[in-house]
Amino acid sequence: MLRFFDESAAERSARVEGWTAPSETPRFRFLIIGTGMIGREHIGVTELLGQAVIHGIYDPHQPSIDAALDLFAHASEQPRVYESLQSALADPEIDAIFLCTPNFTHFELIQQLIETGRPLFIEKPMATRLADAAELLKLETTYSAPIQIGMQYRYKSQYTEAFRQVKHQYSLGDVKTVSMSEYRPPFLNKVNQWNKFNEYSGGTLVEKCCHYFDLINLMAESRPHSVYATGGQAVNFLDFKKDGKNSDIHDHGFVIINYENGVHASFALNMFSEELYEELIVGGSKGRLIATESSSFKRNGSSVGRIKVEVDGHEDYDFRDTTYPAIIESSGHHGATFFEHEAFIAKLEGKPSDGATIEQGWWAMLVASAAQESIAQGKEIRIADFLSDNGLDIS
Ligand SMILES: NC(=O)c1ccc[n+]([C@@H]2O[C@H](COP(=O)([O-])OP(=O)(O)OC[C@H]3O[C@@H](n4cnc5c(N)ncnc54)[C@H](O)[C@@H]3O)[C@@H](O)[C@H]2O)c1
Repeated sequence: MLRFFDESAAERSARVEGWTAPSETPRFRFLIIGTGMIGREHIGVTELLGQAVIHGIYDPHQPSIDAALDLFAHASEQPRVYESLQSALADPEIDAIFLCTPNFTHFELIQQLIETGRPLFIEKPMATRLADAAELLKLETTYSAPIQIGMQYRYKSQYTEAFRQVKHQYSLGDVKTVSMSEYRPPFLNKVNQWNKFNEYSGGTLVEKCCHYFDLINLMAESRPHSVYATGGQAVNFLDFKKDGKNSDIHDHGFVIINYENGVHASFALNMFSEELYEELIVGGSKGRLIATESSSFKRNGSSVGRIKVEVDGHEDYDFRDTTYPAIIESSGHHGATFFEHEAFIAKLEGKPSDGATIEQGWWAMLVASAAQESIAQGKEIRIADFLSDNGLDIS
């Protein structure tokens, strides 16, 4: 049984209420490669969870190193700062490696990381090109140490509870439809602005929306049969240029996914909103579930997760707040990163874990890539054709 189905959001919140890191010495030593926004979030969450220490960091961009070291200003021990990737990977004291670099670097860097044979945590998306992701999929069976992909939205409080209701309590009966949407402000600043260009990010639906395709795939519990999408760049970064190149990333889109088991799904994206609003609606044979998250980018950043189960007599027929305790909620991605770390620690301990696998990362990326291809071609993409057109045979 997967833990994020096992434990209700309320039980999970009660377990971490007033969280303080355990007093015993942390068992694992982490290396963080890339100490930008998410690398620093992983540093903070590692410290908060207290099961591991940050043993070392590597980033060629000094401001990112400085910002990471600021997080240790009051710590008794500072992490090692390596001069090169080679020296970082050669450190025999590292127990696990976090890859937190821009998307376009993942595939090449993973080739070097797997030489160490160590457990790996790889930020999403695993690659920017489908063929590279297919190559990495082989690691699912060939790499003997654990690998986890950084798709942590499954641990957001309202989605944890949605999965519990649908897959554990079977509150909705059989799942028939899944519709997901995200409204949010534009992409944030990144080091060298890699997220403003398809070439470096893999495109918006791959870079950002693989999270949602992972959730939809998990809810549908089937393989995608066909994908149709429409979208474009309407508002954001229209005048943005770097090194003479115009930004070309999409800022809105609509995606329809048909699954082999007959589940119909949709995803809507709008990245020119003032605030964040995510909504998941699952239609089942017995009723409907709505899971929402509202969060302010502009004000205090706090968020509220809610769930509603419209099934006759259900205790959550009216909206219920699922938000995690503030210390967890504020530690990154509304608490999702904290529970993602718990899942990674479980993998390191050889225990059952529901952290995203390479295979799940692959299927999310496949839907995202097919959606981008659909926008480019202006027609529905059959997954079987898409795979064979790309010379891929995934059974
Ligand atoms: N799971 C999530 O919710 C989530 C959220 C944000 C970002 N991400 C992912 O994390 C990755 C990093 O995103 P970010 O927002 O931190 O970007 P960022 O630009 O803030 O940071 C990236 C860092 O990587 C460094 N870097 C670049 N090339 C490197 C190399 N070869 N070796 C070591 N360091 C290198 C850069 O100098 C920079 O400091 C991306 O893949 C992104 O998609 C995931």
